[in-house]
Amino acid sequence: MSLKEAMQVVDLVINNVHVMTMSSTVDNAYGLIQDGLVAIHNQNIVWVGEQNQAPNFQAVETVNGQGKYLSPGLIDCHTHLVFAGNRANEFEQRLTGVSYEEIAKQGGGIISTVKATRAATEQELLDLAIKRATQLMSEGVTSLEIKSGYGLDTDTEIKMLKVARKVGEQLPINVKTTFLGAHAIPPEFKDNADGYIDLLVNETLPLVADLGLADAVDGFCENIGFSPIQMSKLFDKANTLNLPVKLHAEQLSDLSGAELVANYHGLSADHLEYLSDNSIKAMQQNNTVAVLLPGAFYTLSETKLPPINQLRQANVPIAIGSDYNPGSSPLCSLKLMLHMACTQFKLTPEETVLGVTKNAALALGLNNKGTIEQGQSADLCLWDIQHPAELAYTFGVNPLLTSWVEGKKISL
Ligand code: NIG
Ligand code: FE
Repeated sequence: MSLKEAMQVVDLVINNVHVMTMSSTVDNAYGLIQDGLVAIHNQNIVWVGEQNQAPNFQAVETVNGQGKYLSPGLIDCHTHLVFAGNRANEFEQRLTGVSYEEIAKQGGGIISTVKATRAATEQELLDLAIKRATQLMSEGVTSLEIKSGYGLDTDTEIKMLKVARKVGEQLPINVKTTFLGAHAIPPEFKDNADGYIDLLVNETLPLVADLGLADAVDGFCENIGFSPIQMSKLFDKANTLNLPVKLHAEQLSDLSGAELVANYHGLSADHLEYLSDNSIKAMQQNNTVAVLLPGAFYTLSETKLPPINQLRQANVPIAIGSDYNPGSSPLCSLKLMLHMACTQFKLTPEETVLGVTKNAALALGLNNKGTIEQGQSADLCLWDIQHPAELAYTFGVNPLLTSWVEGKKISL
């Protein structure tokens, strides 16, 4: 009996679809396989290819894709979606000419969200976070990173990370948590940033690691945040605890934060409007992903563009995140970010789709997600579109037909 005739029993077959594998092993834009078929068993992709080449599968369930497009599940690799309160008042202030930095220096900005988040109960934060995560999922997000950073004391940072973990337990979505204790200097440590870093290094981070609440460590390296020297103290500690690092870097000025995080073999450097050539070199040498956040660029009316061409020339992988947060990016839509990354940063639609699939997976250290390849986790989205670029082209319509996480169909 030939291989083609042998029956292979699988959980799910999706046939009659154009498959955007996003894999570099398929030599087409979007790694596209026209008229393809994907077979799924035990949560993983067990076969992908042209339908007319497919072995004879016996599937528990078969979905006819009706000639539509199948992509990897989308990955939002940078969010701050656990928070209470909102900052509409600051949005108004900024439109009268007060800058994001000035608001922060006056005790608003991140600190105003810290006050609201400290005052909220775990359940209140969870209810809010579930709504926001569900909104992202409704547009195809199947993996999500959630940062702490609106607690800035040990108890509230832990409360936020517990809520983030619960989002992943209560919703059918894969959540990666990031400890962002070094997001801003809390009022208790005003004029004593070093003292706060000591607290994070000696108390908060070890406890967070002990409780298994963080998958990575992040910080805000900026004049209104922490210096590279302060960040390196925290990264040294993260190293001893075997936690990977990432960094908000070069958002408002160039402090060579991206170079710093790359030299710690960081997963990603995020924002990067003021990124220098030296930092790009360090990112290239250390496989550090460039996470671009068009929502923050847009909301803060930034005009300095991240150096996209230099990143391309250096082959630094580019990812895109929503940066969903109440201050600089109150925009709860990853799909909108694809559109904005094209219109503002002049990325190609294909680069933006790579940025929320394959490269976003790299930015989170998720090595079994982000592409449609044999052996990968079966996180998939079926889209009612006629061209892959449509994912970035439109906004305000939701073309998602069905999504699957680890082979399970998602119903919201
Ligand atoms: O990624 N840059 C620092 N952190 C967030 C903003 C958080 C806030 O303003 O609440 C960001 O843009
Ligand atoms: Fe951020």
